[in-house]
Amino acid sequence: MHDPLLAWRSEFPTLDHTVHMISHSLGAMPARARTRLKQFADEWTERSIRAWAEGWWDMPIAVGDLIGKIIDAPSGSVVMHQNVSICQQTVLSALDWSGRRNKLVTESLNFPSNHYIFHNWARYGARVVQVDSSDGLTVPLEQLLAAIDEETLLVTVSHVTFRSSYVQDLAAIVEKAHRVGALVLADTYQSCGTVPFSARELDLDFVTGGSVKWLCGGPGAAYLYVKPSLWPTLNPAATGWMAHRAPFDFVPGAIEYADDATRFLNGTPAIPALYAAMSGYEIVSEIGVDRIRAKSMHQTALLIEMAEEAGLVFNGVRDGRHRGGVVIFDVPEGKRVTAELLKRDILVDFRPGAGIRLAPHFYTTDEELERTIYEIRSISNTLFSTAAH
Ligand SMILES: Cc1ncc(COP(=O)(O)O)c(C=O)c1O
Repeated sequence: MHDPLLAWRSEFPTLDHTVHMISHSLGAMPARARTRLKQFADEWTERSIRAWAEGWWDMPIAVGDLIGKIIDAPSGSVVMHQNVSICQQTVLSALDWSGRRNKLVTESLNFPSNHYIFHNWARYGARVVQVDSSDGLTVPLEQLLAAIDEETLLVTVSHVTFRSSYVQDLAAIVEKAHRVGALVLADTYQSCGTVPFSARELDLDFVTGGSVKWLCGGPGAAYLYVKPSLWPTLNPAATGWMAHRAPFDFVPGAIEYADDATRFLNGTPAIPALYAAMSGYEIVSEIGVDRIRAKSMHQTALLIEMAEEAGLVFNGVRDGRHRGGVVIFDVPEGKRVTAELLKRDILVDFRPGAGIRLAPHFYTTDEELERTIYEIRSISNTLFSTAAH
């Protein structure tokens, strides 16, 4: 079958010699990213201090606009930070946890870094209410909705869970939260670039995620969207001079926040990381996340079929509507099998308690899926026949 998305393979040199099934952890590097990093080096060399005024200073917003196109957020409403942990802290520090409405509702499958931050916010009055997954794969929606009440200040959940690639029903979560006056923060690290969504249509209050995975943007660039109508009400305690309304006046004392989304920034931005990240965002935008999702649904279903035929045990979310871009197989000696796969240039990862995780992306061929399953089988056979002797 002709797959037009494979035309993008030529933009990713690493695909010539590796089977890249690890886009949930580290997306392949676009060739354009190298060009952009060289551009940064050239500007630093040639333009020196002038480079700030010639574009560097505006990059946290200009690059944020590229993300805005992917998540359907208005121009100027997404700012770039270094990682999701900082974005979460920026949001939490902008809310008042001292009143009766002080509940922070989350789920056990949220990324651990987020959990650590939520629990630390207890020192500022936050009451963390965690809804547990009973199977380690899914989050019980009814229980989550029931936990959101008039005392809830913030609901902070993953759109797609990192461990099991379970797609949560953000529309239902936002509907309940807004009905009782709570705000919603969605961590879309595991959806942005592979599962389409619209920040605007979902009426999300905050969206955050990073670039390392499906966006093929490398480390050091994370996005934070804040719904524009909330800006005047939010003054993050975690701040810095870039958030000031006139940063170059260098005024000491308490901050006067900028009126626009730069009020959610802090100190000097990570310019090289922003240069590196842009290319992946552009490519994902050019292809369109709807097309990426259609292919991902096809390939994850195909992987499950091939793997089960080969006798592997599927350990992920079977329902396509709730399955993100990753499929997981519980392979005996999964850690050793993974190490062998890496030696053969088949990039996957292993999580204890879950299994071997495989993530095809828009650049993956069906033959690569076949080869991956074949190699898992043959490595397993070798390991177990050796063990039997
Ligand atoms: C859903 C999710 N959130 C957050 C993170 C980590 O974010 P950061 O390292 O940018 O703080 C990850 C990554 O590994 C993730 O999968």
